[in-house]
Amino acid sequence: MRIDIITVLPEILESPLNHSILKRAQDKALVTIHIHNLRDYTTDKHKRVDDYAFGGSAGMVMQCEPIDRIITHLQSQRTYDDVIYTSPDGARLAQPLANQLSLSENLIILCGHYKGIDYRIREHLITREISIGDYVLTGGELAAAVLTDAIVRLIPGAIGDEQSALSDSFQDNLLAPPVYTRPADYKGWKVPDVLLSGHERNIREWELDQALERTKRLRPDLL
Ligand code: ADE
Repeated sequence: MRIDIITVLPEILESPLNHSILKRAQDKALVTIHIHNLRDYTTDKHKRVDDYAFGGSAGMVMQCEPIDRIITHLQSQRTYDDVIYTSPDGARLAQPLANQLSLSENLIILCGHYKGIDYRIREHLITREISIGDYVLTGGELAAAVLTDAIVRLIPGAIGDEQSALSDSFQDNLLAPPVYTRPADYKGWKVPDVLLSGHERNIREWELDQALERTKRLRPDLL
């Protein structure tokens, strides 16, 4: 998979994309992530990428030209499954969408900023708008990092134990059951006996019961 991220603040993306599973997936060549500075695609001598909104409303708007230039340039080199724009008014990111996007070959993610991007870009070049939740971030970079993480960890081989991506919370619309590690007794806080029993079927039943109970209690909307 290849992911091209377009941003005016590349520095924000560097750390989250270069640690842990995302780093390992890139080291193993399961994904290549390319970060592009939108300012490199402006013809303005001050490298401006925004301008005042027509109609006089407050806030700056990202201009068409630099965005069009970079997206057209990338699309001249390969076919993209989606050109995604991160925006609070996009479709809310949830596990099924991450699963679907993890099957992509090539993705572009455009990070929004200021008051937004010129709407003509959304009409003509963007194929998918994604929000990571009903709140407004300063820019789309953190949303792009969240989206990239959610996608890349699902690529086969990205996670050591492949089973663990499948047993994540939300994969089956259930929250994950509790997990424990050694010691079995810490200050009198005990690990449930069943997990120490070695009885595989009882353990799987217990995990399912716990997943159902936690989902009913904490996220009944998922059931
Ligand atoms: N940009 C600003 N807020 C956002 C959000 N909640 N999701 C995606 N992109 C955003």
